[in-house]
Amino acid sequence: MRQQVVIIGAGPAGLLLGCLLDNAGIDNIILERQTKDYVLARIRAGILEQTTVDMLHYAGAGARLAQEGIAHHGVNIAFGQELENIALGASTGGKVVTAYGQTEVTKDLYDLRMKNGSPTIYSAENVSISDFDTSNPTVSYEQDGSTVTISCDLIAGCDGYHGVSRASIPKSAITAFEKIYPFGWLGVLSDTPPVANEVVYANAPRGFALCSMRSMTRSRYYIQCDLDDKVENWSDDAFWDELKRRLPSQLADEIITGPSLEKSIAPLRSFVAEPLRFGRLLLAGDAAHVVPPTGAKGLNLAFSDIHYLYHAMKSYFADHDDSALDHYSYQALQRVWKTERFSWYLTNLTHRFNDDPFEQRMKEAELAYITSSEAGRQTLAENYVGLPL
Ligand code: APR
Ligand code: PHB
Repeated sequence: MRQQVVIIGAGPAGLLLGCLLDNAGIDNIILERQTKDYVLARIRAGILEQTTVDMLHYAGAGARLAQEGIAHHGVNIAFGQELENIALGASTGGKVVTAYGQTEVTKDLYDLRMKNGSPTIYSAENVSISDFDTSNPTVSYEQDGSTVTISCDLIAGCDGYHGVSRASIPKSAITAFEKIYPFGWLGVLSDTPPVANEVVYANAPRGFALCSMRSMTRSRYYIQCDLDDKVENWSDDAFWDELKRRLPSQLADEIITGPSLEKSIAPLRSFVAEPLRFGRLLLAGDAAHVVPPTGAKGLNLAFSDIHYLYHAMKSYFADHDDSALDHYSYQALQRVWKTERFSWYLTNLTHRFNDDPFEQRMKEAELAYITSSEAGRQTLAENYVGLPL
């Protein structure tokens, strides 16, 4: 079998790239390790930057988002009993963010992919990539006991942090930067109306808390927890009690509680691998970098990679312009590092983790600056709505 592009991973990054390549008439196949049902049920963050929304429309997957997405014109930051709203549009030329779950984004891209009819192989086992440092790379996978080998021009490694793509690169050719945070997030999804119209990030003496939403009837909340904590330790009642204790009372008093639909603990990590190009193998999304969820940048950053990668691939196939692939790595990494910085900054600002009273005062001073200075508000808003591509 031969394809112009083999995409490894059917997460949001792989699916978006596949749909864009389909629209450009570049043939491609997606290989995914998990089942379709597993991939489509995964719950992740749910705040889309304007550029992400624009890309979904450009790909042809924006119809339901236009109907169901909820525009957020501001973001809230709480410290103790203080609650500050930072307007987004005023200082960013009218940009907003949109609340729309990543689960829905994946489903919309999947539906478009099915309509386009290009091949997507779910439950592809033991995907392996070879000869990506030559002009004849191949990708193999196993299914139902037989091995299939695909020759191709380019391989897109969109297979997440634990994927095979980055792991196939010789250690000497790649540099990794990593920071593990000493806490996790315990998240709850529930069919209750959200407590606030826009996301709330709260730094409280008992730790961080976050209020978000999937719709006007479905809420998403998180609290900072210990890394070795277990979901089984948290009854729904215990979660709601702890959440309320970390929010200003004007919000805590308004929270409507209900049974959890999902409850999970996730660790927080910052990670970047450089470069993103290794011959004919190109990394994108979580395969290349991870951000802590504070600021909800993971999906948005994966999509900006795909924006650059798609244009580089188009140039490559149109003009055999090899330099476009190198340029991809350079261009995408510029935005990756700036977004890593913001996610790291917002994580540090809003979490409690080393009980150092001086650092806590620094965070309070930072918040006072950000909220009282026009330049401070603008900096937060500019990063929160997403830096330009
Ligand atoms: N072979 C094939 N597929 C694989 C392999 C493999 N060896 N390893 C991983 N995958 C698949 C995973 O099952 C997953 O469906 O690659 C996909 C990667 O998807 P994501 O982890 O969602 O990564 P990405 O598409 O880059 O999305 C980035 O979305 O999922 C979030 O946290 C993520 O916010 C980030 C953003
Ligand atoms: C979410 O809605 O799940 C969400 C919102 C904002 C974040 C992280 C997650 O920063």
